[in-house]
Amino acid sequence: MSVPALHLHPAWAALKKHYQKIRRVHLRQLFAKDRRRGERLAVEAAGIYFDYSKNRITDETLGLLLQLAHESGLRDRVDAMFRGDKINTSEKRAALHVALRAPRGASIIHDGRNVVPEVHAVLDKMADFADRVRSGAWKGHTGKRIRNVINVGIGGSDLGPVMAYEALRHYSERAMTFRFVSNVDGTDFAEAVLGLDPAETLFIISSKTFTTLETMTNAHTARDWLLAGLNGESQATARHFVAVSTNAQEVAKFGIDTANMFGFWDWVGGRYSMDSAIGLSTMLAIGPDNFRAMLEGFHEMDEHFRTAPFERNLPVLMGLLAVWYNNFFGAQTVAVLPYQQYLKRFPAYLQQLTMESNGKHVTWDGIAVDCDTGPIYWGEPGTNGQHSFYQLIHQGTRLIPCDFIAFAHTLNPLGRHQDILLANVFAQTEALAFGKTARQVAAEGTPDWLVPHRLFEGNRPSNTLLLDALTPAALGKLVALYEHSVFTQGTIWQIDSFDQWGVELGKALAQQIVPQLESAAEPKLEHDSSTNELIRRYRKLKGSA
Ligand code: F6P
Repeated sequence: MSVPALHLHPAWAALKKHYQKIRRVHLRQLFAKDRRRGERLAVEAAGIYFDYSKNRITDETLGLLLQLAHESGLRDRVDAMFRGDKINTSEKRAALHVALRAPRGASIIHDGRNVVPEVHAVLDKMADFADRVRSGAWKGHTGKRIRNVINVGIGGSDLGPVMAYEALRHYSERAMTFRFVSNVDGTDFAEAVLGLDPAETLFIISSKTFTTLETMTNAHTARDWLLAGLNGESQATARHFVAVSTNAQEVAKFGIDTANMFGFWDWVGGRYSMDSAIGLSTMLAIGPDNFRAMLEGFHEMDEHFRTAPFERNLPVLMGLLAVWYNNFFGAQTVAVLPYQQYLKRFPAYLQQLTMESNGKHVTWDGIAVDCDTGPIYWGEPGTNGQHSFYQLIHQGTRLIPCDFIAFAHTLNPLGRHQDILLANVFAQTEALAFGKTARQVAAEGTPDWLVPHRLFEGNRPSNTLLLDALTPAALGKLVALYEHSVFTQGTIWQIDSFDQWGVELGKALAQQIVPQLESAAEPKLEHDSSTNELIRRYRKLKGSA
């Protein structure tokens, strides 16, 4: 998988030179020079209209970025991923999330076996379970039907399920309550079960490893809460706990019958797992048919990514533009701004997807990277963000490329709301790109002293993604789009986008510190002086020292 260091790619050097030419070029000039730019620099695929014309690029930029993709071996890497090669080199694993949404009958070979039938066997088992719970056929220990579902998980075992539940709430079974517990802060659990009847509550313990400290702590608390509410009858757990995991041994050790376990595989990364059995809560909420429609959406984008020429390939173009701003303009962040209230958790979901994937400091060969890697992704739904942080995007000193996501049809038609919402999307991208000159501001009768405050430089880049409506399929397409854009970026930077060693040190230290906080006797502390003192203070404040 070795390719030359990035700075040795001819396209990289050419882009560096080209950047010097383009850095002062204004989007006003680019649009004035080409009256059809807005139509020309747009691609429609898999039902997503992607307008990238308001980016600080020319045809030459695009050509060089595409050349960089080719020189980086992106085509081979895409093929390797879809083929099931172990492209997660540091963990010696495949990254085969595309198999999770392959249609029944497809064949994807991993370690000599076609994994697609196994994927569909799990989906069928999930569907059968979901139907039984949703219809009331699956009863709780006391014979009451399940009305509340609580997913207990963290990271990829939480962010995807929460995001998908919120995104597809419109399609969800409204007679049921869905809650999510992730944080080891007891408040999360306490608030999630508030007002719920244990006899009507089902816990899904979602953990790929089934060893994660937060999830296991919450799972034990859940069991205590359930038993306390059901007269301590320990056999009650069987009807109120199911597990989603790759670790049958630990699931059994916890006391969940593995017949009530929904499996997945080590070739599914946590942050790429919302369409695996980790999506059980999603399926319970929206039903198996809608879940399958979501998978079809994922698959449509997968096929587009796998087969479309790079110049018309949405994830490739998005990924390359992210590289352009990250590495040549020095932009440190990307704002994701969905104009869709149901996507309120989408930016939080993307934070793990993008930053756990591409926050890396060495190449897949273990050599220090020679450029910046993953940018910081963040965002909030519009129009709320406009009344908060957009000021900085419009007039601050930092360059923040933005992704605007909008839907032509609302799921909740109410008066003029939708037109006003969409007007704001278009207005923001226009204002960011073109701004308002001092002359324009002055012509409005603004006194001279106020002109600098009121002018908008513009030249702030953005992408606009316009979809028809937020359906389960549309959500699948959007998620897959970002997954593959992340992969494209990681390939350019030559990093392993599928490992996450950076989360280990903090986890190990916490395991060491927990007994130091809990011990009755004064512990022997051998941390640095700051950490030692914080531990002592905490012990004193809580009254154990
Ligand atoms: O801490 C990072 C992480 O390993 C994520 O990659 C993962 O999604 C999360 O923890 C949860 O892991 P698990 O599903 O094994 O509990």
